[in-house]
Amino acid sequence: MATAPSATTSTSPAVYDCNPESASFPEQFAWGAATAAYQIEGGWDADGKGLNVWDTFTHQGGDRVFKNHTGVDYYDKVIDGLLANRVTPVVTLYHFDLPQHLEDQGGWRSGAIVETFDAYAQFCFRTFGDRVKLWLTINEPYVVAALGYEKGIMAPGVTEPGTGAYLAAHNMIKAHAAAWHSYDKLFREKQGGLVSIALNSDWAEPSDPNSPADQEAAKRHMAFCLDWFAAPIFLDGDYPAIMKSKISAVSKRQNCPSSRLPEFTSEERMMIKSTADFFSINYYTTRKIKHQDNTSCQPSFFSDQEAVQVMDPSWPVASGSSWLAVVPWGLRKLLKYIKDTYNHPVIYITENGFSQSDPAPLGDTQRWEYFRQTLQEILKAIYIDDVHLKGYFVWSLLDNFEWISGYSSRFGLFFVDFEDPALPRIPYKSATEYAKVIANNGLIKSD
Ligand code: GAL
Repeated sequence: MATAPSATTSTSPAVYDCNPESASFPEQFAWGAATAAYQIEGGWDADGKGLNVWDTFTHQGGDRVFKNHTGVDYYDKVIDGLLANRVTPVVTLYHFDLPQHLEDQGGWRSGAIVETFDAYAQFCFRTFGDRVKLWLTINEPYVVAALGYEKGIMAPGVTEPGTGAYLAAHNMIKAHAAAWHSYDKLFREKQGGLVSIALNSDWAEPSDPNSPADQEAAKRHMAFCLDWFAAPIFLDGDYPAIMKSKISAVSKRQNCPSSRLPEFTSEERMMIKSTADFFSINYYTTRKIKHQDNTSCQPSFFSDQEAVQVMDPSWPVASGSSWLAVVPWGLRKLLKYIKDTYNHPVIYITENGFSQSDPAPLGDTQRWEYFRQTLQEILKAIYIDDVHLKGYFVWSLLDNFEWISGYSSRFGLFFVDFEDPALPRIPYKSATEYAKVIANNGLIKSD
């Protein structure tokens, strides 16, 4: 199990004085910090864990298996410890660390995983659901599909251009829906919790705002990134029309026997639609999008979109991640898009953050400035755009293992000295400032 964004709630009057420098967040706004099991736990071969895909990908070894009671005891302690400290756990069932033995049977490309995932989800609901009331089934299915099964730059490192991502996504959507239904039927009445899926999306701006082709390309980027998952789950059980028509047309031109985008049956569509109790979004960055004709004979998820991404050179870039252009206003636009497209849902921002490279200064003044600007944009989204936002969780609580970037990309609110076996933790300035925001349930002028 990937641990959880941890959330703590705070109460303060919802007063907006139209000044994002000093406004309060709504009452009961949930403040948190997120982590994930594989990125913080270590102990890859502890207590009978088996291998997972990231162990194999990074040539290490091991993941926790739930048949293993030590694993259950461990998460019992984590959950109880959080609650004892008045922190509300939000638990993600799967955060990139698929057991290797499942990958060996096809992983997310195999339809058999739907039942396996559902059984695992039921186990977690049954075991921890007396104390956990907010669940996320899958973290960032886009990343798993596009980077894990298409580009192969994340585990499991599969490169199946033009088909791998679509197939993996198809099964993740079905697995999520199956788990949601299990919760709904078997646990909701007694446990009273909520279940969703953590989606990620960049915000897409047309590269040339006056070009209709770029405007359409930016819309397609949103469709191929966010709506790919959100449209079936939040709307009608099916993929966005623009994806279906684009992929079908390109597949035909490439002489594929049928569209490379799999289809849901009508029973599956019924099963998938409306299977999220709130909207969970992870936001990091914004891209400018240009139209680009796809004339290639090679199938590719990325070329299917006929849209290429450009980073605006005027945007600051986080020192620890070359992909992370810091664009706080993009988050406001993304939140408004979710509100308008998905019927004004309750939204939680389940990840947002900025990385520093080594050596990372404890006085991360510039990083805090980005957080501050982001919180201001969020206030505008809540009070001006009427977005129903209920929580914000920073990625991440601690510096951790940042996937293919290893330990050099530091996202933590707390610095971790990885050279010292005791792994001492020291707050960055951002941690201290964030604590003030939480205590105050808002920004204060001196921020
Ligand atoms: C997300 C992912 C996290 C973390 C973060 C920063 O995509 O869910 O595990 O790595 O990005 O890159």
